[in-house]
Amino acid sequence: MKSSPATLQLNPASSEPISFFDLRAQHARLRTQIDIRLTRVLEHGAFVLGPEVGEFERRLMSYTGAAHVVTCANGTDALTIALMAEGIGPGDAVFLPSFTFTATAEAAAIIGATPVFVEVDARSYLIDVDDFARRIKACRDKGALKPRAVIAVDLFGQPADYDRLNALCEAEGLLLIADAAQSFGARYKGRPAGVLAPVTTTSFFPSKPLGCYGDGGALFTNDEARAAIYRSIRGHGTGDDRYDVVRLGLNSRLDTLQAAILLAKLNVVDDDRANRAALATAYSEALADVAVVPTILADRDSAWAQYSIQIDRRDEVQAALKAKGVPTAIYYPRPMHLQPAYAAWSEGPGSLPVSETLSKRVLALPMHADMRLETRTRIIAAVREAIAG
Ligand SMILES: Cc1ncc(COP(=O)(O)O)c(C=O)c1O
Repeated sequence: MKSSPATLQLNPASSEPISFFDLRAQHARLRTQIDIRLTRVLEHGAFVLGPEVGEFERRLMSYTGAAHVVTCANGTDALTIALMAEGIGPGDAVFLPSFTFTATAEAAAIIGATPVFVEVDARSYLIDVDDFARRIKACRDKGALKPRAVIAVDLFGQPADYDRLNALCEAEGLLLIADAAQSFGARYKGRPAGVLAPVTTTSFFPSKPLGCYGDGGALFTNDEARAAIYRSIRGHGTGDDRYDVVRLGLNSRLDTLQAAILLAKLNVVDDDRANRAALATAYSEALADVAVVPTILADRDSAWAQYSIQIDRRDEVQAALKAKGVPTAIYYPRPMHLQPAYAAWSEGPGSLPVSETLSKRVLALPMHADMRLETRTRIIAAVREAIAG
């Protein structure tokens, strides 16, 4: 999911612009704490792996309950590191939903593994576990690839079906990686994203539920040996000595300045999520009779990274909303199995019909914690009008 973090457009009916995502308002609320944190870093000068990075990792451990947290440069690297640590590469199959942001598939392909695209559920947008099971079997029957891992994506902020995924992966000997780039702060059966799979990754891209002012990411695990390998890989594959290179690695550290910002933002992550959840509830109540509104399953809640409806004539409705000054976004206009870069691993058009249909019907509405009531009312009225044509 990539969006311009502060898409501002003017509403002809009002002088006040509507933001798709409002980083400026959040910054205004947190300015003092962020300034104090940043000044401290500028004074101590430890810009790479300074004390704020360790402090932030410890705060993430207590927030999620994960025994180990290793931060890194971005959410894509977090996925790549998770796969590299297992020695996954050529000849290995990594299963993942086609209806996701490219990073999920990219991480598998870039290390030479084969991404195997899986269908998603039409209402929750989450990986279809029955289809995943069928594709593991098909892969074993064919015999060309070794099934090694699955990356389950918590799309738009809602955790995937981790009980079923954990059971299936244990039975099949696959590593389950939770791509929680969009779901930091969400819960599944009362347990937070970060401890729902043996390995979880997240992103701190500015528009994510916990976003920094640049790029950042993290891995969560209860497995000490894995965490040690993640630390090694994020720092060029070094061992105990800085110049002792024991494996191939990356230069993938979270900047100290970003950790400082994230420490300030972590204090409000729950309040912000509650505000986004209230906005989502208001949208759903007001739009359920004219659009397919998001389905959040009873045993979990969403971090509401995005609020996506499904509608007919999506592109027309989007254009009408743009004319009314309401910014929207499409996550995602093309599923990964139809992207040119992944053609070598795709069964082509028609092979994943739910993902293909969703890519033509979804439309994400403005979603952030600082939306004013009158803006929300304006957006809802504009969406209803645009859908009515
Ligand atoms: C589902 C998903 N996975 C992975 C990523 C990659 O995160 P990053 O942009 O921090 O590399 C993103 C975010 O953009 C995402 O939405």
